[in-house]
Amino acid sequence: MKISEGPAHVGCFIFFLLPMVSGVQLQVQDKHVVMDNGILQVTLSNPEGIVTGIQFQGIDNLLEVRNAEYDRGYWDLVWSKPGKKGTKGTLDRIEATNFTVIVENEEQVEVSFTRLWNSSLEGQVVPLNIDKRFIMLHGSSGFYTYAIFEHLGEWPAFNIDNIRMAFKLNKDKFHFMSIADNRQRLVPLPDDRLPGRGQVLAYPEAVLLVNPVEPEFKGEVDDKYLYSCKSQDIRVHGWICADPPVGFWQITPSIESRSAGPLKQYLASHVGPTSLALFHSVHYSGADLILRFGHSEPWKKVFGPIFIYLNSLSNEDDPLLLWEDAKQQMIFEVQSWPYDFPASKDFPQSDQRGTLHGRLLVEDRYINMDYIAANGAYVGLAPPGNAGSWQRECKGYQFWARANADGYFYIDHIRTGNYSLYAFVPGFIGDYKYDFNITIIEGSYIDIGDLVYKPPRNGPTLWEIGIPDRYAAEFYVPDPDPKYINKLYVNHTDRYRQYGLWERYAELYPDEDLIYIVNQSDYRKDWFFAQVTRKKDNQTYEGTTWQIKFELDNVNESAVYKLRLALASAHVSVLQVRINDPSTEPPLFSTGQIGKENTIARHGIYGLYWLFNVDVPGALFVKGNNNTIYLTQALSGSPFRGVMYDYIRLEGPPLPPCNSSNNN
Ligand SMILES: *[C@@H]1O[C@H](CO)[C@@H](O)[C@H](O)[C@H]1NC(C)=O
Ligand SMILES: *[C@@H]1O[C@H](CO)[C@@H](O)[C@H](O)[C@H]1NC(C)=O
Ligand SMILES: *[C@@H]1O[C@H](CO)[C@@H](O)[C@H](O)[C@H]1NC(C)=O
Ligand SMILES: *[C@@H]1O[C@H](CO)[C@@H](O)[C@H](O)[C@H]1NC(C)=O
Ligand SMILES: *[C@@H]1O[C@H](CO)[C@@H](O)[C@H](O)[C@H]1NC(C)=O
Ligand SMILES: *[C@@H]1O[C@H](CO)[C@@H](O)[C@H](O)[C@H]1NC(C)=O
Ligand SMILES: *[C@@H]1O[C@H](CO)[C@@H](O)[C@H](O)[C@H]1NC(C)=O
Ligand SMILES: *[C@@H]1O[C@H](CO)[C@@H](O)[C@H](O)[C@H]1NC(C)=O
Ligand SMILES: *[C@@H]1O[C@H](CO)[C@@H](O)[C@H](O)[C@H]1NC(C)=O
Ligand SMILES: *[C@@H]1O[C@H](CO)[C@@H](O)[C@H](O)[C@H]1NC(C)=O
Repeated sequence: MKISEGPAHVGCFIFFLLPMVSGVQLQVQDKHVVMDNGILQVTLSNPEGIVTGIQFQGIDNLLEVRNAEYDRGYWDLVWSKPGKKGTKGTLDRIEATNFTVIVENEEQVEVSFTRLWNSSLEGQVVPLNIDKRFIMLHGSSGFYTYAIFEHLGEWPAFNIDNIRMAFKLNKDKFHFMSIADNRQRLVPLPDDRLPGRGQVLAYPEAVLLVNPVEPEFKGEVDDKYLYSCKSQDIRVHGWICADPPVGFWQITPSIESRSAGPLKQYLASHVGPTSLALFHSVHYSGADLILRFGHSEPWKKVFGPIFIYLNSLSNEDDPLLLWEDAKQQMIFEVQSWPYDFPASKDFPQSDQRGTLHGRLLVEDRYINMDYIAANGAYVGLAPPGNAGSWQRECKGYQFWARANADGYFYIDHIRTGNYSLYAFVPGFIGDYKYDFNITIIEGSYIDIGDLVYKPPRNGPTLWEIGIPDRYAAEFYVPDPDPKYINKLYVNHTDRYRQYGLWERYAELYPDEDLIYIVNQSDYRKDWFFAQVTRKKDNQTYEGTTWQIKFELDNVNESAVYKLRLALASAHVSVLQVRINDPSTEPPLFSTGQIGKENTIARHGIYGLYWLFNVDVPGALFVKGNNNTIYLTQALSGSPFRGVMYDYIRLEGPPLPPCNSSNNN
């Protein structure tokens, strides 16, 4: 990613408010440790290493002082013993037992809070050594934090569902949240979610505000999943206090330590007011993303660093300038990556990392006899695996870049180690993987040359529905029920971020399921964004069967046709395919039960990517306009079950090689 010039280290809006900037001071008290650089003062509990106070611009504490000290600013994880089903584990706020000063001088303070594991803790504490670090620099309006997790020796197996750092801000002060230019708003109070003020909807995270403290929120739905973000977009987010005008921001200069690649969705901020830095979660992915470690499996990973940035304004200025300034600071932090000041040898600096560049081309003779530049391709290094395995990969680091219009890509700041090179290309189905492993050593500068991706393709396109881009956003997304609005997403590009859209299906198709007629229907209007269940009387839900009707000018009965079914998400679903006879048993094809992504309930438009390639014997088709493909989502029982399609294509039988590009 190329980023334009950044500002000076200290945010441009605060310099004029600063008193003389002193060196960084560290005070070690009996129960607390205080870092102070004259701009802000950060208090951590000793030896637990929980952020209990942040003093800035005359505000004694930006954090929620009504919360117990352990419930203000903390790293936490959710873990379980192996064999446990589902994704519910034990929350651990990682209270450290040992405090150590790592660096202490005028320019920088770095402190460490560690918790070491030994077998006397077996079953009670996650078997990891954890080292939480906090850094304050001279003249810097904020502080950095990172954490090092390590599993050693003969230690037991375990699972982790969630790893994050959370800050709970003072609810009297922080009322305005910003996670993107077009995703920012005043938010309700946490009290508004309580009984009497809020009414819990179909699952507990979703609350209808019936009697909020501020009447302007009445009738809106609050749900933290309305504010989830794609990993690659979570670079800066936070909260604004209007009086005095102060911003609290989390800046993530690199997503290398987050699980599961650039598209993985994470929570960022929610009513509380809470600001989150997620490094690992199962949201929008399900149990496939539980981090599972075996007995004695060696593992070490550094999460972060992230930067907690604070800024302020004079009272007359528009508080939104704080957001603009935070974005500038984010650019500066990205340009400074990898940081040269973290003291841990586990965080490699710039000259200890490597670079890889090259060009990706696509070969699809049914579209073009020439190679096609992989415009906008995602190209990444992740631990060795199969094509597409990166979207479920959580243990290592991932390094991604986008190709330019000519397919050239440049991946920098790669840690040393062995990787596979993966890619996927908007506009084409499937996943690319380079045939060989790639080893990065210190200072590597690899030019891998031209790579060619041959996406799955057997014959000419007879018809297609949607755009192969891993999202269902191009399909029909209904307006929400007026009872369940979140005003932020009215008339918004992310229309799908509304509560209860699943219920609209049965309203739109009360008597008969969706029928799509090739060459007449328009997928933007006539293909509902999710194949959800249908509500029957009295809270029961049944599976649905959608039909695609089309004409074939001629049919080769002895040839094999290919149906490409690319899914953008699945939740406890079985998708079956039948041709021209809805009662065929068994169906021509079934996915078996797939998915635990909860994308429908969480207002997403994608979860994990699934590609199914179905052979259809030509003998099942008929010449003329009487062909129907029946797509049945067979599992019933919940409103949140179902699949989202990314793209569907029917390919005719292969053409002789020299004639491939004649068609389409
Ligand atoms: C605490 O950390 C210091 C410095 O790393 C180390 O010397 C000491 O042994 C540790 N104490 C415990 C109880 O782990
Ligand atoms: C194991 O850890 C516990 C808790 O930190 C500590 O009290 C105990 O001394 C440790 N045992 C050994 C053998 O290090
Ligand atoms: C990378 O792979 C090579 C060859 O398979 C092996 O010798 C080396 O130890 C591996 N390096 C790491 C860091 O795993
Ligand atoms: C790539 O590395 C993985 C893990 O080390 C190994 O299992 C695999 O055989 C390697 N593949 C090739 C092509 O060398
Ligand atoms: C929706 O947004 C468009 C473009 O921003 C604007 O012109 C239009 O007035 C908006 N409609 C409503 C109902 O807010
Ligand atoms: C609807 O279901 C609930 C719970 O299963 C049951 O108590 C109730 O009697 C049912 N109502 C009707 C009209 O069937
Ligand atoms: C769609 O229409 C085109 C021409 O309008 C026709 O050639 C084609 O066969 C039709 N396809 C289907 C699947 O009906
Ligand atoms: C029909 O398909 C078969 C099997 O692919 C092929 O051998 C045959 O040439 C095809 N017939 C026509 C008329 O294209
Ligand atoms: C179309 O196909 C259905 C069964 O798939 C059959 O019942 C119907 O008679 C056919 N119609 C025509 C006009 O061929
Ligand atoms: C290839 O296409 C050309 C023109 O489109 C046609 O004349 C020729 O018969 C085709 N050859 C084969 C082997 O189908």
